[in-house]
Amino acid sequence: MTTESSQVLTPSADQGRALRDTLGHFATGVTVVTTRDAAGQPAGMTVNSFNSVSLDPAMVLWSIDKQALGYQAFTGQEHFAVHVLKADQQHISNLFAGRGADKFGQVHWRTGPDGIPQLEGCAAYFHCRRVQCIDGGDHTILLGEVLEFTAGGGEPLVFHRGRYRALAGD
Ligand SMILES: Cc1cc2nc3c(=O)[nH]c(=O)nc-3n(C[C@H](O)[C@H](O)[C@H](O)COP(=O)(O)O)c2cc1C
Repeated sequence: MTTESSQVLTPSADQGRALRDTLGHFATGVTVVTTRDAAGQPAGMTVNSFNSVSLDPAMVLWSIDKQALGYQAFTGQEHFAVHVLKADQQHISNLFAGRGADKFGQVHWRTGPDGIPQLEGCAAYFHCRRVQCIDGGDHTILLGEVLEFTAGGGEPLVFHRGRYRALAGD
């Protein structure tokens, strides 16, 4: 079934694909969120559910699939870092979207504040303290207070309808 028509659908088990495809019309940036698990090992995943919430206090959110291998790490650790990817960092997005892959062996990173892995060369970086986990169906919403941030600049990586895109020129 195509979602190009203006046919009205209601969410149900057999409309899962159509709902996903329709949500994909909302273009987003792409981030990699990092933390450490209980054993101190770096954990990270590609995330496009990141969004700003509040300026004062500075707060952001993202949501994590309850089935993600990194779920325990992100909901158990108090801090996480969000890295906004640049247009030329598609390979990093693909790497961190791989389930349980050796993600940190293939990127340049260092240990940042509170021991959280910090990727190098991203468009923007936010070091956060998790202030709340909110149940969101098959996902959990993580609300974080921004403790530190830096802007690296550059063209952003864009995700739209299941594909990476570049921003159209001004
Ligand atoms: C562009 C893009 C955006 C994604 N956004 C999210 C997200 O917001 N939340 C989420 O739980 N998974 C998201 N994923 C999927 C995870 O990156 C993927 O499931 C990853 O394998 C999880 O890692 P883990 O299971 O090793 O912890 C996204 C994947 C891609 C390619």
